Amino acid sequence: GTAGLGSEIVNVVNKLQDVFTSIGTTGSSIDLPQICVLGSQSSGKSSVLENIVGRDFLPRGTGIVTRRPLVLQLINRPATSSKDQGGVDKSGDKAANPDEWGEFLHLPNQKFYDFNKIRDEIVRDTEAKTGKNAGISSQPINLRVFSPNVLTLTLVDLPGLTKVPVGDQPKDIERQIRDMLLKFISKPSCIILAVTAANTDLANSDGLKMAREVDPEGTRTIGVLTKVDLMDKGTDVVDILAGRVIPLRLGYVPVVNRGQRDIETNKAITVALEHEREFFENHASYKTKAQFCGTPFLARKLNMILMHHIRATLPDIKQRISTNLQKFNAELQTLGGALGEGNSGNIVLSVITEFCSEFRSMIDGNTNDLGVNE
Ligand code: GDP
Ligand code: NA
Ligand code: MG
Repeated sequence: GTAGLGSEIVNVVNKLQDVFTSIGTTGSSIDLPQICVLGSQSSGKSSVLENIVGRDFLPRGTGIVTRRPLVLQLINRPATSSKDQGGVDKSGDKAANPDEWGEFLHLPNQKFYDFNKIRDEIVRDTEAKTGKNAGISSQPINLRVFSPNVLTLTLVDLPGLTKVPVGDQPKDIERQIRDMLLKFISKPSCIILAVTAANTDLANSDGLKMAREVDPEGTRTIGVLTKVDLMDKGTDVVDILAGRVIPLRLGYVPVVNRGQRDIETNKAITVALEHEREFFENHASYKTKAQFCGTPFLARKLNMILMHHIRATLPDIKQRISTNLQKFNAELQTLGGALGEGNSGNIVLSVITEFCSEFRSMIDGNTNDLGVNE
């Protein structure tokens, strides 16, 4: 299992995140690795993210539902509450799980224990900034989810690529969305989840095409094949998985998310994940490789890729942090108060240095089991 490895990695990543938080506004010029979903409208991007988190909280459905980027920071936090403690949110709802909640950047100090209300708030704030129709905005919604059941990851849900304007969308909607997506996926620190519905032609995948534009070597693109359950009888994705159609260095993971009917009938995510497991284990084409199929494998693979990616970008991150600190120090000096010995600037730098060496030694021992065909 990944639990042991996961929690070890999670601890150091949390430490780094704390450091970034304490650096404050200067931290915005440092790009921590994040995972972005990329693909056509309704290919299943939001569904994939929800399954990775294991909770229902994203608006999903037919048409353009995701209209602003959602920057979702998952933070692993061990359970601390006793069973009968039960957190209560602002509206007085008893928490289903007092150790699992969400917080929006635009609503500081407000804990959401009810994940349906997280979805309502995403919809409300989307409409407040873009109108009720199909307008889009590049202004992100920032949401943190704290839970003992997640791996520490930053995921970004993005609007899908679309060709034809609907409602009162501007004529150049395709270009507007492309520009927004490019802003996110061009960063070398971005890991791209290129989502394609398995019941559509891979050669026409907008997500894969766009991923190739910014990552021609394929070093940070993972293929995700959704809707495997909707493929015509007798067809499968085996050739794609084997790299015989459009090869990707990091490979493809096939998944089965909830269908529109499941959403309408509120099918629980745990039931859906169980259904996904049974689907791959019992399907003639996949049962011999079921361990490399489905959402849990995708989550593990992502976590490992993210850690390798962090390791590769660490020297650069460290350099940028110390440059920022020098600037910060200089600014402070002009304000009349230098950061001397033992002050916060030096503490931050020493935490980072410690982090880097800790991280190196840890990750060097854990480079196997990626399921990566290199
Ligand atoms: P997005 O626009 O790419 O974010 O796609 P959504 O996650 O909103 O999903 C679009 C529609 O496809 C919804 O009705 C989902 O229920 C459905 N869907 C997504 N993934 C799957 C899948 O693996 N199987 C089935 N049957 N339906 C899916
Ligand atoms: Na959609
Ligand atoms: Mg979506």
